[in-house]
Order: sequence, then C-alpha cells, then structure tokens
Amino acid sequence: MIFMKFLSTIIAGVSALLIFTSSTPEKGYYSELYRPQFHFTPEKNWHNDPNGLVYYKGEYHMFYQYNPYGNKWGNMHWGHTVSNDLVHWEHLPIALYPDENSKDSVFCTAFSGSAIVDEHNLLGKQEGDEKTLLAFYTSQHCGQRIAYSTNKGRTWEKYEGNPIIPFDENDDARDPKVFRHEPTQKWVMALYRKTENDDITRGVSFYVSENLVDWEWKSHIVGFFECPDLVQLPVTNRPGEKKWVLFDGDGSYIIGDFDGESFSPETGKMKSDFGKNYYATQTWSNIPEDDGRTIQIAWMRGGKFPDMPFNGQMTFPSELSIEKFSFGYKLIRKPIKEIEMLHGKHTSWKNENIIPGINDNILKKISGDCYHIIAEFDIKTSDNFGFMLRHGKKDAGTEVLYNVKRGTLSVLGSTVPLQAIDNKIKLEILVDRASVEIYANDGQAVVSNCFTPSEKADDFVIFTNGGELEVIKLDAYKIESVWAEEN
Ligand code: FRU
Repeated sequence: MIFMKFLSTIIAGVSALLIFTSSTPEKGYYSELYRPQFHFTPEKNWHNDPNGLVYYKGEYHMFYQYNPYGNKWGNMHWGHTVSNDLVHWEHLPIALYPDENSKDSVFCTAFSGSAIVDEHNLLGKQEGDEKTLLAFYTSQHCGQRIAYSTNKGRTWEKYEGNPIIPFDENDDARDPKVFRHEPTQKWVMALYRKTENDDITRGVSFYVSENLVDWEWKSHIVGFFECPDLVQLPVTNRPGEKKWVLFDGDGSYIIGDFDGESFSPETGKMKSDFGKNYYATQTWSNIPEDDGRTIQIAWMRGGKFPDMPFNGQMTFPSELSIEKFSFGYKLIRKPIKEIEMLHGKHTSWKNENIIPGINDNILKKISGDCYHIIAEFDIKTSDNFGFMLRHGKKDAGTEVLYNVKRGTLSVLGSTVPLQAIDNKIKLEILVDRASVEIYANDGQAVVSNCFTPSEKADDFVIFTNGGELEVIKLDAYKIESVWAEEN
C-alpha cells in the first residue's frame, strides 16, 4: 500500500515535470553550434525573404517566407516576428497561410510582399483607434492580394476583394512593394514582372493607386529580377539633396529620379554587397520621422547550417544613405547603431605596429564566437594584411585579406574592389556563429557571407606580409546573445 502511494507520488511528480518542460523552451535551445546569436533565425524549418517590414507603435514587424513543414523551400507561408529595437526578436505565430482557390481547387501559397500602415483607413477595416496594417503579397498563381490586421499584426484576414491585380500566366508577377509617394499624394506599387512572355522583359513595373485597391499600371523598367524596392535617400555630403534608389533582388541598385510613375536612372547598376549571401532585400516602412532612417535587411541566401533545426538566417539590419564622390553617387550601408546595445567586453588597441614574420598576434587577448570589430589600418609597407577569424589550434580560421597592389578585399571566396584612402583602410566586421559581414571604408563596400567555423575555434589573428602595418585603432566588442533570456 505504502509502496503504491510512493509509486503514484513519483508518477505524479514525473508527469508534472514533463508537462512543465514541454511547455517551456528546451534548455540550451538557442545555443546550437551554428545558431546565430544576434541575427534572426526562425526556431525551426526553412525561411527565405524578409517580407512585410513595417514599424507600428513601437514594434518593428518582420514577416518572412516560411515553410512550416520542413527544412527545404516550399509551402510558403508568412512567418512573423516583432522587435522593439531591431535586435531582440520575439517569435509570433504564422501570419499568412496559403489561399484556397475554390474555382480551380489549388492552393496558392503566400509569396513575398510588403506591408504598410493604413493611416487614413482607406480599406475601411479599422476598429477603434488601432490603425489597420495591410500586407500586399503574391499569392502564387492567384495574383497580387491584400491581407489586413486590425490588432497590431497579431491576427490577419484576407481582403474579400482579392485579387487586387489578377494572375496572368505570362508575366510571372510577384513581390509587390507598396509605398507612399508624397509629391503626387498617391500609393505606388513596385512589382517584379515581365511585360511579355519573354525573360528579356523581366523588370519592375510601377502601378499607382489612390485607394490601395484599384491599381493602374504606369511604367516598366527592364533588367531587374525579384523583390524590388524603391526608396528616397539623403545624400549625406550634400545637405538637402535626395535621390531615389531602385533595388534589385540581389541588393544591387540604380540611383535616379522617380516622379511617382516612372523611374529615370542616373547611374549604371551597382553592387551593394559583394558577398555570396545577400538576397531579397527590403526596407522598413513607416519608420517615425524623428528617427528618419532607411533600414534594410536581407535573407542570407545559400547559407549552410549543418545539423541545425532551422535553415536560413537574416543579415544584421543596415542603415542606408548616399554619398557623392568625385566619380558620382554611391550607396553607403552601415550596421544599425543598435548593435551597440549588444556590446559586451571591450578591448582596444592604438598605434600598434605589426611586423611580418614575428609571432606577436595582438588579438591573442580576445576569444569567442561573436564579435564586433572596428579597425583602421595604415598600410605603411605591407603587401597584404588581414585577419584570421575564428581561428583554432586544429583548424585555420577564415582569412580576411586586403591585397594592397590589387586594391581588393577577399574573404570566403568573395572579392571586393576597395581603394585605400590616404593609404588607410577601415574594416568593420560582424562575426556571428554562422556569418561574417564586413563593412569596408565606412560602408562604401559590404561583403556578407555565411560560414561554418570549427567548434571551439575561437581565436582571432591579425597579420601582415611583405612589410610593416600599423593598426591605428582597433576596437573589439564581444557580442552578447540576443536570446540570452530565452535560454
Ligand atoms: C525570392 C523569391 C520571390 C518569391 C519568393 C518565394 O527569393 O523567389 O520572388 O516571392 O522567393 O518564396
């Protein structure tokens, strides 16, 4: 009898423990070998493009192409996450499910798109004072559509008048980016499509609307593929001057003018990221005027995450601006200042001369898997110099190499043209468990790559070959995991 009582107490205890553990995140959950510690990943499964980036009432929303059923592309839904600061992300339930097309009984999966705040209740769905959030998305094979939320993005309904632009099997249209054009007081949609059933006509079509539901085609520019975005940016060294920038899916861009109906290029197409993993860029809409930044994020397409429960990560968000140089206008991209919130232990060096062949690595004081490094070098007589990141005793780390004669920066198989300024080079590096992003010469060139460093290879090395190098200044900040509270 006593034994039975004892047994049932044990059983009750064990099952209480099981219930408790299954409803709380598993311990050590976000500490997997290749789990980014300050870049967004879904808890599990496949993701691709960032979608529906919109700021509303203190929250940055990010939706993303998501397959809830597996680790490969397919079954596209819109996953959802929010953040108060663009670095700490809270995972929310799936926002958009595929549409059922009752006529042909096919499922139209939820492809990429954008989101805005319906400030003036044009869709007529507003409840009380809470503005409606509108998502414009491509329903695969079922046209461009609207979904709306009357509760700060927590739940979503499909608009009954869908599709707002019907499906056309010849044009492959997708990825609507909707934004307000103040001078004409109209809404504009940039939509990737072909004007004829011929890949040569691939590009961006512009549509305009007064009510967000009826859209009129206005113009088309060829030479673009997927996920367009069009933003107006300040030219920071020419006060008062602004330019429009049309982005392609791979982050490359053309600077020009936009009159509300068509885009007039003023430059050729330029690369904004020279890495292998920068795709499907999008900028946040509705960022408050007193902030005024244009903030972009991208999917790190092609990244590898061996044995991880998830497949995919976003870049760290970056702030965009334009600068005018002697050769013309150029996009400048810098990591958002919120990175500073994650700064942990700080180590710094000043005016250190590095001599080739001598084994006195000044970085031997630091070790870890997540770092923000800001360095300025005087090339002096060096032929080439750089870093070994995530270097280990057994495995050499990832080399970041500046070749002085060629004027190139190379890392993980990507090469970036980079001119020294007064014989100086600046490198700002974000190292996470599965990615390296390098912002060179104050954001003039960026290279974003995924990598899979060896476990416990936590050292960093600075080296020079051929001649002397001066580290004018180097700051290394250990980065704290944004998931710390969840672990
Ligand atoms: C870009 C893209 C988009 C499309 C989505 C589907 O990566 O191909 O054009 O909407 O992904 O997941």
